[in-house]
Amino acid sequence: MIVSFNVNGEDRVANVAGAESLLQVLREELELPGSKNACEQGECGSCSVILDGALVTACLVMAADCEGSEVTTIEGIGSDRELHAVQEALIDHGAVQCGFCTPGFVVAAAHLFDDNPHPGTDEIKEALSGNICRCTGYGAILRGLTALAEEGS
Ligand code: FES
Ligand code: FES
Repeated sequence: MIVSFNVNGEDRVANVAGAESLLQVLREELELPGSKNACEQGECGSCSVILDGALVTACLVMAADCEGSEVTTIEGIGSDRELHAVQEALIDHGAVQCGFCTPGFVVAAAHLFDDNPHPGTDEIKEALSGNICRCTGYGAILRGLTALAEEGS
């Protein structure tokens, strides 16, 4: 079936097979490989995207249900010329981790900070609770985002 939706501010059309996930369509048809497939079970957050304003795991969203939706992927967060504030904060605090978990952390953090520029530590932890790092940890990420939250507050 044909699905028309908006991805990162562009109108896109995808030819979707019955049970294909939004993650599969983004990566394999729309050539947006930033969202990662690390578990395909909704457990790790590596495929996090913003769908109609909500943070979701794209591996659990049926692409066929996205007709008319607005999707923001990691490719739509910041730009080459101007990074998002959370990207700057993570870089400044050495919190850039591997290519599997980092996109999801950035999308989840951007979703939080775009709504609430000065979240508390518990709010930051809650916002990132669906994102798993299997190796390095969360300390640098929390330090970077806490510092960002305290800027100008
Ligand atoms: S790949 Fe979707 S939550 Fe892990
Ligand atoms: S899973 Fe990416 S650094 Fe641990």
